[in-house]
Amino acid sequence: MAHGTPEGLEYRGSIFDKCYAVTKADQLRNTGIYPYFRAIQESEGPEVIMEGRKIVMAGSNNYLGLTTHPQVKEAAIKAIEQYGTSSSGSRFLTGTLDLHNELEMKLAKFIGKEAALLFSTGYQTSQGVLFPLVGRSDYIFSDHENHASIVAGMLLARGALNAPVVRYHHNDMEDLEKRLQRVPAKAGKIIVTDGVFSTFGDIVPLDQLCSLAKKYHAQVLIDDAHSFGVLGEGGRGTANHYGLNHEVDLVFSTFSKTLASIGGFVAGEKRVIDYLKHESSAFMFSCSPSASATAAALAALHVLQTEPELIRKLHFNAKVIRTGLQQMGYDVPDGQTAIVPVLLYDDAKACQLWQGLYDEGIFVNVFIAPAIPPGRAMLRTSLMASLEGSHLSRILEAYKKIGKRLRII
Ligand SMILES: Cc1ncc(COP(=O)(O)O)c(C=O)c1O
Repeated sequence: MAHGTPEGLEYRGSIFDKCYAVTKADQLRNTGIYPYFRAIQESEGPEVIMEGRKIVMAGSNNYLGLTTHPQVKEAAIKAIEQYGTSSSGSRFLTGTLDLHNELEMKLAKFIGKEAALLFSTGYQTSQGVLFPLVGRSDYIFSDHENHASIVAGMLLARGALNAPVVRYHHNDMEDLEKRLQRVPAKAGKIIVTDGVFSTFGDIVPLDQLCSLAKKYHAQVLIDDAHSFGVLGEGGRGTANHYGLNHEVDLVFSTFSKTLASIGGFVAGEKRVIDYLKHESSAFMFSCSPSASATAAALAALHVLQTEPELIRKLHFNAKVIRTGLQQMGYDVPDGQTAIVPVLLYDDAKACQLWQGLYDEGIFVNVFIAPAIPPGRAMLRTSLMASLEGSHLSRILEAYKKIGKRLRII
């Protein structure tokens, strides 16, 4: 104990010590394969320039390829000319643009809900919707594989309010029911789930989940980040895909995928949206989405509604890659979304396959522990409508060549 330091308060080291210890990132860098933070120098959509080389993009969430659509780019540029580069304030005060109101109205109408509210990112949306809705004695039921932003919202509710948080096994409706049975019948309950799960691209069994919600008087919240523009009639999302629009209380999503921008929104009953507008600190105390981001999302929503062939092309592209990889012998589950997971179960193998594909000019995403549980390493290939036949052939040829070389197939 240092001289004069009260007992129990002796100096045990800096909180930064952990930063100087060997981290997971150091371990990965030491293997010579570090697949993260690769900078894009230019992007035409399906092809990007990375480290001076042209690379086929097979890892983006730009599902309909709208980030480079002429109408979307033009709308963003015009908005900068009209409103400048930032709204410079919260919606509550000086940050509301007519564009925000227009987008909220159009999103609500498209989704089939009474009202919508914009947030500055998808991550903030999940947090900003969940936290203000739960009270001390309300229960949140959340799928084990829900996105990190939902987990953050739940932990905030648990930390700040001591709200009970219950995580059920992934897409396991028997487990969910068992857990619903255990809580007081009169307690408020929210069931929150991704519509399409962001890592493996599987879909929630929403019909069963909504039946349970009805039986146990719970509200249903869906994160449609990977379903908006992908599933349902005209890309209206998971609830529409199941014909259960009225059974889902709140739908939230991001602009960073199909809507080719940055921001997020929640859609639902007018009174609930109005409540969030005045109670959600993630909404109230954060700068509103910029005019260019909002105008880009508005234009992307317009393209989504006027060029429905893009959704068909996206599904065609996903099917070509999924069946092509399955036929080669890769472990690829069946699916109906734009995410095609290649299961490898081994971190080193996943990193080697990633590097081989990158050297062949193909970019996909690699998921290893701790991002996913140990032993579940995988590559996430995600498709875009803007990929042409020649790109699909290059993706499949590269997977074949490297998979054989590494004896994966
Ligand atoms: C399911 C899901 N929800 C929320 C988000 C967060 O969205 P954003 O990137 O707009 O913050 C993501 C982003 O990857 C996601 O996959």
